Amino acid sequence: MSEIKELRKDFPVLSREDNGKKIIYFDNAATSLKPKTVIEAINNYYTNSTANIHRGVHKLSEEASIEYEKAHDQTAKFFNAKKEEFVLTKNTTESINSVMYSLFTGDFFEKGNKILLTKMEHHANLVPWQLLERKGLIELDFVELKKDFTLDMQDFENKLDKKTKLVSVAHASNTIATINPVKEIGKMAKDNGSLFLIDGAQSAPHIEIDFPKLNADFFAFAGHKMLGPSGTGGLIAKKELLEKMEPFQFGGSMIHSVELHKSTWNKLPWKFEAGTPHISGMIGLGKAVEYLKKVGMDKVRKHEKELTKYALDKMQEIDSVKLYCPKDKEKQVGTILFEAQGIEAHDLAITLDEMANVAIRSGMHCAEPLVSSLNDKGLDRASFYLYNTKEEIDEFLNALSIIVKSFK
Ligand SMILES: Cc1ncc(COP(=O)(O)O)c(C=O)c1O
Repeated sequence: MSEIKELRKDFPVLSREDNGKKIIYFDNAATSLKPKTVIEAINNYYTNSTANIHRGVHKLSEEASIEYEKAHDQTAKFFNAKKEEFVLTKNTTESINSVMYSLFTGDFFEKGNKILLTKMEHHANLVPWQLLERKGLIELDFVELKKDFTLDMQDFENKLDKKTKLVSVAHASNTIATINPVKEIGKMAKDNGSLFLIDGAQSAPHIEIDFPKLNADFFAFAGHKMLGPSGTGGLIAKKELLEKMEPFQFGGSMIHSVELHKSTWNKLPWKFEAGTPHISGMIGLGKAVEYLKKVGMDKVRKHEKELTKYALDKMQEIDSVKLYCPKDKEKQVGTILFEAQGIEAHDLAITLDEMANVAIRSGMHCAEPLVSSLNDKGLDRASFYLYNTKEEIDEFLNALSIIVKSFK
């Protein structure tokens, strides 16, 4: 993006310097930086109109309710979902757990059913389902990966059977970065009569999401990875399903009427937002999607593809650096999982931080089954976002080359 220099001024953390070196933030897959508009909106809520929503009749409460609902609607619209179809959660993990819990308490699964996942899932899309397996209710099955780190669609077809009640797959992997063909997976899942959940934590920040076109029942995402505040995430789900589903949590706000022994539920989406929500977070998330929309998701993706190709080409030239991803900008997001042979993942991340002020992630990346099978001591990950530049990649790779040589 030509306007990148201007855009970078919107992110205060990017002007931070340590020991005379500008910060290079390549840990975007963990969480993104926040633009000033998001920070200011949160500040404004606490400074000028702090109040609870959907309760008081005074003007502060009314103002807060209006701002909250405006941001809520904006966020649903960003995903081309109906306003009843978006539920604010605290992160992707809570969104997926909520679906699990609601299906479980709604007796959706019967003994002998199967849930089909893949071998590239984040713990958030694995551990919740293990509860159902521990209870002896369902069996988990996993689609294999091919050698080029893409999903083995033949294996998916083979494993999708009549017992499969739910398919739950990452849209893009947080480790190997692969973008999965979710529309195709969704079509096959629907034809099979299975529910389909997309873990969109790594796609929503980088790829335009048109929820109705994905053939999905559920789409879970992290607001905090797409310029929004920490403690924000979301669940998008088909209205017809949400209408039938059990609430995830019970208490205030989510009710229509309450008697001592029974209650009825509020209309969508409030039926699924029990208690006081993260009001400032929702307002901030509204500003985040406004920011992304203004830039344009097509431009975000285009810029990240350029960065990814640039980094992939250069990293493959460094001796002893090994990449674990499709190595194709069309098949992956801007995340590069790698190792510098002979250097432990955490040692490399610490050295890059201390020497060059480069922030990357190291370890198991909350995907232990996959990452430990690639390297039992963990791997390093550099992940880019709309404000990163080729110059930053040059600085990172320059430091990486020096470190690799000095460890020899
Ligand atoms: C693919 C994927 N799923 C789920 C999660 C969990 O997200 P959150 O931290 O928002 O709960 C992450 C976080 O990195 C992720 O990358």
